[in-house]
Amino acid sequence: MQFDTLGKSELKISSIIMGTWQAGKEMWVGIDDTQTTGAIRAALDAGVTTFDTAEAYGKGHSERILGAALSDVRDRVVLATKVFANRLKFDQVIEACHKSLKNLKTDYIDLYQIHWPSGSFGGKKVPVEETMAAMNKLKAQGKIRAIGMSNFSRVQLEEAAQFGPVDSLQPPYSLFWRHVENDAMSYCVENKITILAYSPMAQGLLTGKFGPNHQFQKGDHRSKNRLFQPENYQRVQQALTRLRPIADNLGVSLGQLALAWVLSHPRTCAIAGARTADQAALNAAAAGVSLSEKVLRQMDEIGHLVTNYLDENPVMWRF
Ligand SMILES: NC(=O)c1ccc[n+]([C@@H]2O[C@H](COP(=O)([O-])OP(=O)(O)OC[C@H]3O[C@@H](n4cnc5c(N)ncnc54)[C@H](OP(=O)(O)O)[C@@H]3O)[C@@H](O)[C@H]2O)c1
Repeated sequence: MQFDTLGKSELKISSIIMGTWQAGKEMWVGIDDTQTTGAIRAALDAGVTTFDTAEAYGKGHSERILGAALSDVRDRVVLATKVFANRLKFDQVIEACHKSLKNLKTDYIDLYQIHWPSGSFGGKKVPVEETMAAMNKLKAQGKIRAIGMSNFSRVQLEEAAQFGPVDSLQPPYSLFWRHVENDAMSYCVENKITILAYSPMAQGLLTGKFGPNHQFQKGDHRSKNRLFQPENYQRVQQALTRLRPIADNLGVSLGQLALAWVLSHPRTCAIAGARTADQAALNAAAAGVSLSEKVLRQMDEIGHLVTNYLDENPVMWRF
């Protein structure tokens, strides 16, 4: 495993972070709590020290599963969670944090993130200054150790950073979803803000496991992912056909190739979601895969077969 400093904080995070949206069950199908706990422990055994969750994942279920799974090793792990976009007033943030602390069975959260900017999903706008005041208070009290943003544009990030130190940005980022490169990435690199790439395997697509005629079960939100829509899906399959021999030559899986590509970027870690112990262990091993300049150039060209046809909308789903 590789380790990076989180932003300007003193926290050390693993370059592969385990994502636990799946653990919340809602919007996924066939998730089993015992299997999830096994996946979390497998990630830990494989060297992952950093885990990402959110109050919104299954209304706290993901946080509760994670807290229970890691309570005996709390001092060895870094826990990142998020407050949702509809709870960004000062008192709401304080209340949400206390709830997350309880769910996670801990008295401090390492990284507390604003999940989506205020006003997202038609919600009411709260000035970011007010939300940051709550975050700063929680930090001064030792209840959180670092502050991060998720799904923020560069402009929104710059605005938030006026009101307190921001240590991370969590955007969608994979070989097939590269909007952050043209927006916040350079600002993050220049300002020591760590990029925590979510959906780094394009929600499983980059593992090559979904064939040309794949249909998700009812209730699996991935059917709303724009990469899975017919206008993009054929190009995705063509790109995967070209990525496969590269992975084979390196003796790695397609998913590991996709994660290693994300990790090849400066100040960037990958939040890999997993539902099973096998997936979690394979994903952790991607931290040991290094890609040559030649391979990176080839992958860049292949990724553009998909990304050149995407519009400017940085949100991956049509909810
Ligand atoms: N901030 C945000 O708004 C936001 C949004 C999305 C995600 N996230 C965070 O980022 C994490 C990761 O994103 P994500 O789950 O959307 O996408 P992802 O990590 O790109 O893909 C995860 C999915 O890929 C499949 N997979 C994972 N490892 C695999 C392996 N080794 N072999 C084969 N298949 C594998 C699994 O699909 P199956 O379930 O079909 O097995 C898994 O559910 C989330 O858990 C969450 O913590 C944050």
